[in-house]
Parts: sequence; structure tokens; C-alpha cells
Amino acid sequence: MSIDEAWYEVGVPGLDRQVSLELRRIRAVEPVQLTVGELLLRPWREDDLTAVWTARQDPLLRRWNHSGADTPEEVERLLARWADWGEGDHASFAVVSGPVLLGSVSLHSIDLPQGDAEIGYWTVAAARGRGVAARATVAVCSWAFATLELDRIQLFHAVENPASGRVAAKAGFTLEARLRRSHRYGDGVRHDELLWSRLSDDPTPW
Ligand SMILES: CC(C)(COP(=O)(O)OP(=O)(O)OC[C@H]1O[C@@H](n2cnc3c(N)ncnc32)[C@H](O)[C@@H]1OP(=O)(O)O)[C@@H](O)C(=O)NCCC(=O)NCCS
Repeated sequence: MSIDEAWYEVGVPGLDRQVSLELRRIRAVEPVQLTVGELLLRPWREDDLTAVWTARQDPLLRRWNHSGADTPEEVERLLARWADWGEGDHASFAVVSGPVLLGSVSLHSIDLPQGDAEIGYWTVAAARGRGVAARATVAVCSWAFATLELDRIQLFHAVENPASGRVAAKAGFTLEARLRRSHRYGDGVRHDELLWSRLSDDPTPW
């Protein structure tokens, strides 16, 4: 067992902050690019700002992927957070085809010691219904199970958002539960959500 694994497993008492930050960096998630057919999944870049701003004008995206970023400055800060994987708690991918932004898949709330994370996605309105979200989600899950050695990835969506549920089912997730009024979405309303999960030994859908 390496020293960083030991720290995560037993939480060495008295470990000073500088050392623990150093150990966290050892386990940081290294930025990668993934290819799925014509889709490229790559870390976000500063020059994605205009495309992200445009995508975020879509009412469905604002409703179901509300992030609290409404002004150009707020979206710029959001993009900077997505682009920085340094904390090791998320791996946020832009999904592009050539120069065109098609969507986003983000593995977030990554907890390496626990071996779990959450996943979320959106696609630009013009790219929907072509399997972009499902294919990109499968690719990120395969990478995360293989490289980050996660055992469980979960996702949540509002009951009133069946398209997201179709993506989950197509990407090999299993429906586990309905959570009552569990999250306030962009419409300001707390919605019931469906909780889905994929485990590392669940079959890959294709
Ligand atoms: C949900 C979303 C990511 C799906 O992206 P996508 O690239 O169109 O996804 P896919 O093409 O892989 O699959 C979409 C599936 O939903 C289905 N679908 C679309 N609208 C639907 C609706 N209103 N009711 C039921 N199913 C619907 C499509 O038919 C397709 O299923 P199929 O392949 O069995 O026909 C996209 O619609 C989106 O960005 N919505 C707004 C933001 C959002 O909801 N994000 C998820 C938050 S949890």
C-alpha cells in the first residue's frame, strides 16, 4: 500500500495540511481525451466560452442543469472550474465534433477512497436525439471504472425529465429509487428525482 492510499484509508491523525494537500495531488485526476467514433471528449478550454454561453441560453438546459451562472462573468468562472481538474474531485469533458460543441459530460463528486462518483450531462439543442449523451456517458464510465478504479457511478434526474432517464438506461444504468422533492432545479421548484447507478461489474451496454 502506498503512503497516499494509507492516508485515505485510515486518515492519519495529526497529518498536517501541507502534507495532506500534497497527498491529494498525488491522487489528482489526470486530464485525458476520449474518442468515441466522431465524438471527441476533451477537457474544457477558455475558448469554449462563447459556445457554452450560447448552449446555456436553451430553456431545457437552464431548467435541468441550472448552475447559478447567469451572467457572462459567472459562466466564465464556471468554465474555469470545469477546465481545472486539479482538485481531483471532478473530470469535466466537453463533447465536440471537430470545432463544434455538442455537449458536456461531467464526472463529479469523485471520491477515490470510496471508489464512487456522480455523473451529469447535457447536449446542445441542435445535437439532441443522436445518441451523443448516451455514447459520451458510456465512454466516461468505461474510462472511470478502468482508470480511476471506481466501483459505483450514480446519477440523478428530475422525474419530469424522461429524456435524461433514457440516456441513463441506454448507458447501462439501473434505476434504484425515487427520491421525494430531493433537489431544487432551475425553475426554482424542488422536484422528485430518480436515482440510477452503474457498478464496475455491470455489463457495458455496447
Ligand atoms: C437529456 C439530454 C442530455 C439527452 O441528450 P441526447 O444527446 O439527446 O441523448 P440521446 O440522443 O443519447 O438519448 C436521448 C433519448 O431520450 C429520448 N427522449 C427525448 N425526449 C424525450 C421525452 N420528452 N420523453 C421521453 N424520451 C425522450 C430520445 O428519444 C432518446 O431515446 P431513444 O434513443 O431511445 O430514442 C438532452 O436532452 C439535454 O441536454 N436536455 C437538457 C438538459 C438535461 O436534461 N440534462 C440532464 C440533467 S439530469
